Amino acid sequence: MTPTALIFDLDGVITDTAEYHYQAWQRLADEESLPFDRAANERCRGISRRESLLVVLGGRPATDEQMQAMMARKQRYYEESLDLIGPNDLLPGVASLLDTLDAAGIPYALASASKNARPVCERLGIAHRLAALADVYSVERQKPYPDLFRFAAAGLGAPAAGCLVVEDAAAGVEAALAAGMPALALGPADRFGGLLGRGRVTRRDDLRGVTLDELAAAAAFDPVWHVVQTGFAPAAAAELHHTETIFTLGNGRFATRGTFEEGYPGESALTFVHGIWDDMPIVFTELVNLPNWLRLNLTIDGDEFRLDQGRVLDFRRYTDLRAGVLRRAVLWQAPNGKTVDLLFERFIAYPRQHVAAIRVLVTAVSHPCAVAVRAGIDGHVANQDLLHLNLADQGKNGDAVWLRAHTRHTGRAVAVAASLAAETSAADRLPLAPDLCPGYPALSAAADLKPGQTLQLDKLVAITTDRDPSQTSEVADTSEVSTRALAELSGATYDRLRAEHVAAWGAVWREGDVHIEGDDEAQLAMRFNLFHLLAAAPQHDERVSIGAKTLSGYGYRGHVFWDTEIFILPYLIYTFPTLARNMLMYRYHGLPGARRKAAGNGFPGAQFPWESAETGDEVTPTWVPHFSDPKKLVRIWTGDIQIHITADIAYANMQYWRVTGDDAFLRDYGAEMVLDGARFWGERAELEEADGRRRYAIRGVIGPDEYHEHVDNNSFTNYMCRWHLQTALGVYEWLRDRHPAAAADLADRLRLTPETLERWQDVIEHITLLYDADTGLFDQFEGFFDRERIDPEVFRTADRSLQVIFGIEGANERQVLKQADVIMLLCLFRDAFDSRVWQTNWDTYMPITDHRYGSSLGPSFHAWAACEVGLPDEAYAHFMLAARADLRNPRGNAGDGIHAASTGGVWQAAVFGFAGLRPTVDGWTLRPQLPRHWRRLAFTYRANGQPVEVDIQRDEGGEYRVRHTSR
Ligand code: BGC
Repeated sequence: MTPTALIFDLDGVITDTAEYHYQAWQRLADEESLPFDRAANERCRGISRRESLLVVLGGRPATDEQMQAMMARKQRYYEESLDLIGPNDLLPGVASLLDTLDAAGIPYALASASKNARPVCERLGIAHRLAALADVYSVERQKPYPDLFRFAAAGLGAPAAGCLVVEDAAAGVEAALAAGMPALALGPADRFGGLLGRGRVTRRDDLRGVTLDELAAAAAFDPVWHVVQTGFAPAAAAELHHTETIFTLGNGRFATRGTFEEGYPGESALTFVHGIWDDMPIVFTELVNLPNWLRLNLTIDGDEFRLDQGRVLDFRRYTDLRAGVLRRAVLWQAPNGKTVDLLFERFIAYPRQHVAAIRVLVTAVSHPCAVAVRAGIDGHVANQDLLHLNLADQGKNGDAVWLRAHTRHTGRAVAVAASLAAETSAADRLPLAPDLCPGYPALSAAADLKPGQTLQLDKLVAITTDRDPSQTSEVADTSEVSTRALAELSGATYDRLRAEHVAAWGAVWREGDVHIEGDDEAQLAMRFNLFHLLAAAPQHDERVSIGAKTLSGYGYRGHVFWDTEIFILPYLIYTFPTLARNMLMYRYHGLPGARRKAAGNGFPGAQFPWESAETGDEVTPTWVPHFSDPKKLVRIWTGDIQIHITADIAYANMQYWRVTGDDAFLRDYGAEMVLDGARFWGERAELEEADGRRRYAIRGVIGPDEYHEHVDNNSFTNYMCRWHLQTALGVYEWLRDRHPAAAADLADRLRLTPETLERWQDVIEHITLLYDADTGLFDQFEGFFDRERIDPEVFRTADRSLQVIFGIEGANERQVLKQADVIMLLCLFRDAFDSRVWQTNWDTYMPITDHRYGSSLGPSFHAWAACEVGLPDEAYAHFMLAARADLRNPRGNAGDGIHAASTGGVWQAAVFGFAGLRPTVDGWTLRPQLPRHWRRLAFTYRANGQPVEVDIQRDEGGEYRVRHTSR
């Protein structure tokens, strides 16, 4: 990305006046007998004269008057030396770089806190070549504030976000980043400390030999950490909604889609807080869209800032995944002709569960302009067209406004508070005016900006509810919810919140990153998926879980499916076990609902719901509008007969236990889920006599492949049932052995009689498994291979889902899979099957699966499975299909929210597939098979609480070097 323009600092970049400054300070220090040297001078870089003097004084007391006199003396010495400056004093590399820029038509400016910037440039002979010059007199707030660089960009007439800053001081680099600009940092690495790790900062010793390509690389977004959108011209709502989804932010308690602060026609704005449900027709219950806290409207000389009006001259939006921060830079010309350069930055605080913040920089570009801002809380929101909130109350408190509402059916209280700080100088805040428009309280401010001047707006927000597990006490009455929201904001500042937030994400990535070398797209996609998984993973709440669309869209209404246990949880189990535990506890708290479901169907025990929400009762809709003709209704059977979820939850419990060794969890919670689930299976499997043989059948189900409904003896379901019952017997024995009191308690409560256990054993021994020992083939279900075969050409050429092409009934009657079914089973029990079984089933089912338009759950497991059959490059194709599910939107439905299962699936494909991590009797082993072009795959997992590092590297010759060590 070639920079639109460059902005140079002066001292230490263009010329070494830094050296003259040093000599002037040194002379002063020597005269005053102060111990000062070059090392101490390093600390004077980029800071004001007064601060530099304090460094020189090194703690020696001095009156203000003495300090003034010393500063004047130093300035005199400095100015004397300036007379000596000439064109030969350009630092090495500068002259040729300026020539290169001139030749390429890239303008450049100078931005320096120096009082002598202009005369120095004149003596250097470059003043006339500068397109703009910003010095200490240009702005009120100096570096590390962003104002000076934004002033320079305005002078250049270039979008601030397109300017590359060249700096030699840490404070200057910080100012560049704050201004929304990438930086080229000149000098030794230790001078810039942590700034170098923040992305968009490239370091060099000096400008010698710098090329345009290098400048372009420095100006580019970080390809492995930044999710980027450049240019704004959504052709269709789907495109707008897709970007809203991918720019969602969240902190595991609440999340907000990436809609614009000022709004946009047709937007699908949304803030979901885990656990805030309300009733609705058809789908029973859904997460409630909370008041829109993003709202921040600007007028520029009376014209409202909106992207559908005026001219968008430049647009760049990106999430910095490493920092958990979303930014949008817009150069916008109002219909009245005035141009402003805007930088919006926002985050949802990861360590402060109730808090979010927005900072906006508004810079007047060519003309003076009057800016008016209105920052509010929009309570007039709905879930698409359905209203869930009754507004209760609102008010103002100091520099904050607040609003409280109640959900219509469930009566939950929610409150949002917002504060605003507006400033154009570090010294003064602009006065705020409250505006208590009903349902939309706001704070207003106004500023008259000179060209190049920047207005900074900090909006801090808190969202509280009356269900709040992280609060130590219950709310006494609902009005307390708004008091708590206001309390969250008191004393908070944007910069402090941001620093805490960025540090928290840093810690998360240290534990949870997966490092891929040799493939920037895969690396970015991996991080993107983990970011969204973590943005929805509850940190402090064990009564909520991650829905099929995380917290990022209306799809599936926030409901929780098997996606959570089979796809998402493994990442958390292996990396953040406390988060995994929270989500398993969600299922534990859902046991009463699961028992009601089993009883309703005439079974004992716990039958977990296919779709789950607040209580653990079944919330799958029974009828929904047909996908191609909404006037027709389609009967949804999954809630009735997709029963494998009960075993899937047991599977997740056991995986958690095996990886973490958390015996207390299994004793107190896990065992009950496993055993009560087993009671359901024990009766759900029906005894049949056939050909004089006893066997158990499970009839009338839906397996993972939902293109086939009402099938009998689905191999996945039956195998899971058998495994579940075996596991239950094992867990019960373990309990009796290790924790007899807990075993007795469960035996009593769950009525685990000897007959029950015998029945389980009988089912284990006689359940139907449609497995051909000669070929190793599993029939997906009884009669699957009697169904009509499809011409392979259809799979190759289909441009829609095969269920759309053939119709619901048509797909049901054919040999076509929506997603992995037998293949899924093989993955979950990979070591139970030899290579022949793997190969036969792979060869049979992969060619008849709807890979592109079937379920988004398929590709990640197909990638893993491909590794099991030794096809890492084929695995890669499936892996990328999963990894891109939201970033590229190949199915066209990413606007409904992030494909949550895929986020965890890509981790499993990398870790279980490409790295081949597996528990064996000899401990954890690896079997690396990286895609051809990957050079490295590294990650950390926790086994029995201990972090273990995996680092797989591959050299040119294809040899692996593997490190697998406890930290
Ligand atoms: C898939 C299911 C999945 C659900 C929610 C369906 O399309 O077939 O396996 O649980 O979506 O993601």
